[in-house]
Amino acid sequence: MTTDSRAELPSWTSLASHSTDVQSLHLRELFDQDAGRGERFHLEAVGFYFDYAKQLVTDETLRLLLELARESHVAERRDAMFAGEHINVSEDRAVLHVALRLPREETLVVDGVDVVAEVHRVLDQMARFANSVRSGEWRGHTGKPIKNVVNIGIGGSDLGPVMAYEALRHYSQRDLTFRFVSNVDATDFVEAVRDLEADETLFIISSKTFGTLETLTNANSARAWLLERLHDNTAVAKHFVAVSTNAAKVAAFGIDVANMFEFWDWVGGRYSMESAIGLSTMIAIGPQHFEEMLSGFHALDEHFRTAPFESNLPVLHGLLAVWNRDFLGFSTVGVMPYDQYLHRLPAYLQQLTMESNGKHVTFSGERVTYETGPVYWGEPGTNGQHSFYQLIHQGTTKVPVDFIGFARSLNPLAQHHDILMSNIFAQAEALAFGKTEAELRAEGADERALKHRVMEGNRPSSVVLAEELTPRLLGSLIALYEHSVFVQGTIWKIDSFDQWGVELGKQLSVTIIPELANDAPGDLRHDSSTNALIARYRALKENGQGS
Ligand code: F6P
Repeated sequence: MTTDSRAELPSWTSLASHSTDVQSLHLRELFDQDAGRGERFHLEAVGFYFDYAKQLVTDETLRLLLELARESHVAERRDAMFAGEHINVSEDRAVLHVALRLPREETLVVDGVDVVAEVHRVLDQMARFANSVRSGEWRGHTGKPIKNVVNIGIGGSDLGPVMAYEALRHYSQRDLTFRFVSNVDATDFVEAVRDLEADETLFIISSKTFGTLETLTNANSARAWLLERLHDNTAVAKHFVAVSTNAAKVAAFGIDVANMFEFWDWVGGRYSMESAIGLSTMIAIGPQHFEEMLSGFHALDEHFRTAPFESNLPVLHGLLAVWNRDFLGFSTVGVMPYDQYLHRLPAYLQQLTMESNGKHVTFSGERVTYETGPVYWGEPGTNGQHSFYQLIHQGTTKVPVDFIGFARSLNPLAQHHDILMSNIFAQAEALAFGKTEAELRAEGADERALKHRVMEGNRPSSVVLAEELTPRLLGSLIALYEHSVFVQGTIWKIDSFDQWGVELGKQLSVTIIPELANDAPGDLRHDSSTNALIARYRALKENGQGS
């Protein structure tokens, strides 16, 4: 087996030995020794106050991590990405989601084409369409305005739209109903359209490739549902639009390419929510708010591109993630937004982070000799506190947490917001400092439960605090995580922009689909477990049909 050289960088070796020193420290000591730690270990940029004082780091850790970023050529690779070089090596593609949010007056020529002009051509097309739906000018087959918008897509063609719709619901046009269908389980589609009138419903078929089985299956069912109710093939043109890079397949499906909103192969699916994939978002919040969201993305891009590494938010965020993963050995990250509107953010970040950095070979195909992408998971606070936080506080595995919160609520009501936010601060404090036996005794705690009540503390977390959840802020927040993922992937030397790992399961399912039919031949050629499962599935299915 060949090995990779990343782990042999001087800074990596130094971090490895430094981590044994840090592991013998406690956050209590770090704070006791440095009264200014809370003030010093924070960063303010692009509307965020990022507190990382409760991460298990010292000044020396940060110095070495910044050195690691330099030795890993993060700046060079970042500049290559912004310049449109083919940094997606396994697919030989540019990675240019940053071009999706460049202002109209900029130019960026890639392979002879000004991609900024292309981006704004599509944004203008989206704005015209969004306005016509929002104003009621766009009429359905029977002449009624659209009341319901159903986005059909999966992965990046669903998670971004649904997360953004939920996050920005406050800014949405309330007389429009939005639904998001992703799962090939028919229940998803059936329940989404159960109470909708076909002649008031617009389907957006969102698929970069327009070849994804789940999406095409749902799209076919949507067309059948519509035609069963409107009895006229010409209705499809009024009730279906497509978002894709693949005009030929869109036309083959029967959608007029005049009603297709384009994007490009240099936009990865999980990096596409601000491309035409965001059409449902734009219809919900309007072109003006959408533009504000793009400006938030762009502001963070500019910060990432130009800020010195020591005050660069995504660089620092990414470096802390590498530190926690590779040097402190934490295998998961909790993302806890203390804002109900962000309740789909953890699911969105799961694809962004894990489809990007869940890889085990380097750019050149060598097996890595260190850990790469951790598992991301989370729930909005305060719900998680009454569920799994017990393990985060007292379990045997440590989970670094990203807390996300806002100073002002979009729905100020009595004392709700201060109560909500007190919980972020309290949880981060409890995780870091815990409670000792001596403290418990001094409080007069019952001796019998003493050991059970001890909180070791020394559990790391960061807090991302901002003023208010606006479209602009959401754009910046997503860009922060995108670039943090980029920094991590660059340090790990992995291609954060491909996703070959999802292919094998897709191929196998295509083989298995016909084998599940009642009249399929009985000779199955899988392993004995898969054969037995398929046989039992078919038998159970037939039982049901006989009853
Ligand atoms: O299977 C994974 C994946 O390719 C994701 O990367 C992507 O976001 C999703 O499927 C959907 O793909 P498409 O937009 O082409 O339908």
